Order: sequence, then structure tokens, then C-alpha cells
Amino acid sequence: MPPADTQQSREIADKFAREHYGLRYLLASHPTMRRLKRKQPSQLHGNKNWGAAFLLMEYLQTAPLEQASKILEVGCGWGLGSLFCVKHFHCDALATDGDPAVFPFLNAQAAANGLTLTTEPRRFESFPTEELGRFDTLIASDICFWDDMAEEVYRMIERAIHGGCGRIIIADPGRPPFLDVAEACVEDFYADIHPITANSQRQHRGWILNIENR
Ligand SMILES: C[S@@+](CC[C@H](N)C(=O)[O-])C[C@H]1O[C@@H](n2cnc3c(N)ncnc32)[C@H](O)[C@@H]1O
Repeated sequence: MPPADTQQSREIADKFAREHYGLRYLLASHPTMRRLKRKQPSQLHGNKNWGAAFLLMEYLQTAPLEQASKILEVGCGWGLGSLFCVKHFHCDALATDGDPAVFPFLNAQAAANGLTLTTEPRRFESFPTEELGRFDTLIASDICFWDDMAEEVYRMIERAIHGGCGRIIIADPGRPPFLDVAEACVEDFYADIHPITANSQRQHRGWILNIENR
């Protein structure tokens, strides 16, 4: 039997963790996440698992990626999208974010699942066409929340398509700048956009933008 204090900390940790499609995730109130937040808070809203990450997982559950394919996640935050792909499709994942402060949180969730993945601090405007083309799939959730992000997100999608990235999947709760980008992608790249819901501790509603580029 484990010593009482170990048992107690395990019980506390369990109280602030949940599971979704076999993936363990930590609530923002989890002692580990609270400790990390005190050390270095994130700057660009990468401060929890956002609802759109559950929408992305919901979609991937019904439209799986190829096993062992190469994926890039941009604006990964706490990384649920990439972790889901590593766990379920054994993807070779590169999880990137413009704010390096998110990676300790991502690593804590990776450790909670016994998973490892590569991370890199990168803004999405920094990916050139050729680099984006090296990935089979680009994934993202809730990365277009300010009006001035729409142009950058659209340009990144355009570069990914020109570079030859096979598929682009972006989940979003339906923020106006995202919907503008999605509409432009329907017109310019024959994108498919459809509503989706997912349930974690609560219900999430939003949209999936899917572009097949093969
Ligand atoms: C609303 S959070 C979503 C995080 C995560 N994708 C999720 O769904 O839980 C937005 C994320 O985008 C990142 N971000 C914002 N602007 C960015 C940029 N220009 N390049 C890369 N990442 C950016 C933030 O640091 C943050 O982690």
C-alpha cells in the first residue's frame, strides 16, 4: 500500500483530471497547472484546454488521420489535439505555439498520458510554404480570435496548400474572424465547413474547417 501522503496527493491529482476518448487531461485547477501558472503565466490565451480542442478531437474520432502520419499543430496551447493524434494514430507530431510558456502545461499533460512529442516555439506567420508542405496534416483549434489574426491564418492556410500539405483541419467555437477565414477558404480552396458538438464536463459547439489538398 502506498504511504498516506502519496495516496492523498494522487487522490487530489485525480480530482482535477478527466479523461476524454482515452486521453487524460488536467483541469486549470489541477495543482500541477496552478503551480506552473504561478511560475510563468501564458500570454496569448494558452491558459487552459479550450473547448475547440474537444471539437477537434470529436472530429478526428470520426475522420481519423493516417497512422504514423506527420502532423503540425499550430497555436497548440496545452496540446490536446497533438496528444490525441499521437495516442490514437501514432502520429509524428510537432506541436508549436507563439507563446513558449504553454509548453510546460503541454508536457504535464503528455506525462499524465505517458506520451512524448516534439514542441517548438513558433508563430504561425513564421512557417514558409516549403516547410508547411512537409506535413501530411496541419491541425489547430481556436487560433483565430482577434480580427487582425484572420489575415495571418488565411495566409498560413494558403501557404500550406501551395506547399502541398495534404490536409488542413481547424476547429473553432465560431468566432467572427474564424468564420471570415472559413468563408474565404470555401471560395478559394473548396474547403468544407460544418457544425460540430462535443461533450466534456460541458457541451461545446462550433465549427470544423476541413481542406483536402491531395
Ligand atoms: C485560445 S488558445 C487555444 C489553445 C489550444 N489550441 C486549445 O484549443 O486548447 C490560442 C493559442 O494560440 C496561440 N497563439 C496566438 N497567436 C499565435 C500566433 N501568432 N502564432 C502561434 N500561436 C499563437 C496562443 O499562445 C494560444 O496557445
